[in-house]
Amino acid sequence: MQADLDRIVDDALAAFAAAADAPRLEQEKARFTGKSGTLTAMLKSLGSLEPDARREAGAAINLAKARIEEALQARREAIANAALEARLAQETVDVTLPGRGRARGTLHPVMRTLHRVEAIFRSIGFDVADGPEIETDWHNFTALNNPENHPARSMQDTFYVEGEDSAGLPLLLRTHTSPMQVRYARSHTPPIRVIAPGRTYRVDSDATHSPMFHQVEGLWIDEHISFAHLKGVYTDFLRRFFETDELQVRFRPSFFPFTEPSAEVDMAFTRGPLKGRWLEISGAGQVHPTVIRNFGLDPERWIGFAFGSGLERLTMLRYGVGDLRQFFENDLRFLQQFRD
Ligand code: DAH
Repeated sequence: MQADLDRIVDDALAAFAAAADAPRLEQEKARFTGKSGTLTAMLKSLGSLEPDARREAGAAINLAKARIEEALQARREAIANAALEARLAQETVDVTLPGRGRARGTLHPVMRTLHRVEAIFRSIGFDVADGPEIETDWHNFTALNNPENHPARSMQDTFYVEGEDSAGLPLLLRTHTSPMQVRYARSHTPPIRVIAPGRTYRVDSDATHSPMFHQVEGLWIDEHISFAHLKGVYTDFLRRFFETDELQVRFRPSFFPFTEPSAEVDMAFTRGPLKGRWLEISGAGQVHPTVIRNFGLDPERWIGFAFGSGLERLTMLRYGVGDLRQFFENDLRFLQQFRD
């Protein structure tokens, strides 16, 4: 009997030592102390013994069981520790490895222009406003004296989006920043001095046109703001933007439904590589009385000018960029040239 017990204990200890992981260990345990384990079978056989022999045998079996359980517990702990060690070893961080390096971003050249334009106009008392890129037909066209079916609308072919405004008219991606004149003027009381820079969209794509581009709108409304103020403010703006007085500005008669008179603003440098080449950079004019009325103001009293300039154009001139598409191709070799 004792010999049997010793053998069982030896077998159990050897089996536990050989079990490589927790599930295997628990399987081995079942072979000895489980429901149909060898030690359990011996306990069950006790019933057939005489009381004295039963007591003696019972004590011996319990002792064997205790040794098995002790060995089992020790092995459980050893396996758990080994698993933890393995995990820690796998998850170590080698703090001596070189870092990945942090690439420092740069402002996009068009954003640099936008910030410059904002700073210049703020310095002469203009507010800076922001507005929606998905516009209503009324703000983008009608309020700007560009009624439905007017041929001037086809100057600006655009992208329509699903959905409609409260008048049942389609929503569209704004074709210019001019709707911001209307939004701003309707929510502020004159005198009004504001610029509104932002993204605009047109069905247009070549070396000097992109379907998405940026404009900055300007608006000055008061009781006595004339075309002469427009010329002064805009010329001064260009001199400050390009940091030179060596440029000429020309206001060429043109047509926009929302201004009368209207002009295209051209500029030419009087020095440097672009010297003598006239470049169109803005539309401008005296705000049309109908538009003033759509601002909710009396055109007999309030008068002023507006302009809408292309930010890409200004950026191309300032940095000598030849192809507008470079601004939107995200080629780092191009963009990184505009680092500080
Ligand atoms: N919105 C015009 C365009 O995108 C530019 C423009 C012309 C804006 C005259 C104005 C303006 O404010 O007065 O072509």
